[in-house]
Amino acid sequence: MLKIHGLKKKFGNFQALNGLDMEIEEGALYGFVGPNGAGKTTAIRIVTGLLLPDEGTVELAGRDALKYREEVKTEFGYVPDEFGMYDNLKVWEYMEFFASCYGMSGLVARKRCTELLEQVRLDDRADAFVDSLSRGMKQRLCLARALIHDPKFLVLDEPTSGMDPRNRMEFKEVLKELCAEGKTILVSSHILSELSQMCTDIGIIDAGKIVLSGSMWEILQKVNDSNPLLIKVYDRREEAIRLLRQDPAVKTISIREEDIMVQFHGDYEAEAYLLKRLVDGGIPVSGFIREQGDLESIFMQITNREKGKVVLTSEE
Ligand SMILES: Nc1ncnc2c1ncn2[C@@H]1O[C@H](COP(=O)(O)OP(=O)(O)O)[C@@H](O)[C@H]1O
Ligand SMILES: [Mg+2]
Repeated sequence: MLKIHGLKKKFGNFQALNGLDMEIEEGALYGFVGPNGAGKTTAIRIVTGLLLPDEGTVELAGRDALKYREEVKTEFGYVPDEFGMYDNLKVWEYMEFFASCYGMSGLVARKRCTELLEQVRLDDRADAFVDSLSRGMKQRLCLARALIHDPKFLVLDEPTSGMDPRNRMEFKEVLKELCAEGKTILVSSHILSELSQMCTDIGIIDAGKIVLSGSMWEILQKVNDSNPLLIKVYDRREEAIRLLRQDPAVKTISIREEDIMVQFHGDYEAEAYLLKRLVDGGIPVSGFIREQGDLESIFMQITNREKGKVVLTSEE
């Protein structure tokens, strides 16, 4: 559906995008995650045709999106990170204004706007002034506006930032519904855990480049692999560490309180064999568990790769 290749963009001397590659399949709910300043908004503005890159290509449904910017713009629904102010407009007036921009009027426009306000759960606010809405409601209104022309592809730039937990939940539900209805969605956030509960795919951007991408399932596997094994031994800890060091899948060993903490790049079978070796070696193992990590932890590892390279041995 969307293919981005080698995007580069400089602002003055600052390289905001540095060879960005991304691929989004039709029907995906794609989470675009990265810390502030990573280049998310820049990438999104290029994809939606608002900004031109210095280098690189953007292909939407097989078409060169940079060459045919005007045509391609209408295939997007775009929810920007900043909400423009529309003083003295009521919610329904705001919606009908945008409907008229797409050539809708009268009953057709009214019906479409009513439908959309219901979809984003704002139908009971149709008579409220836009300025009186909470940030969460404004973001949902913005989403309704972005859907007026029934675009195939929705792009949302940090839509849930600044929302309270309830609004976040509601917003995510609406996005999941839209995805289930067949829309392809790109949603950015600087909070990883925010996206893990709803996205089908994820791309992690850091310093203008994708550092990790894949289906949610693939990423979660990697998260598991990157979480440490926590091993408790009743006695003979030094010997246990010696045995652990002999396993090639053991990357680092450190001590955390009572636990021996092991970075172990092995699957469940390898874990079982490691446990067996310890027990066969006469180590009284009283605990052996993979720490439950989350996306945040893998993100920290990826973005601070230097840290990951430090090989801890033990406290001795
Ligand atoms: N118009 C601009 N002029 C100068 N610098 C910019 C401009 N837009 C973005 N930047 C810089 O590019 C970097 C990436 O910004 P941005 O794409 O907004 O990141 P994100 O959305 O991930 O927070 C930031 O360091 C930002 O300061
Ligand atoms: Mg941004």
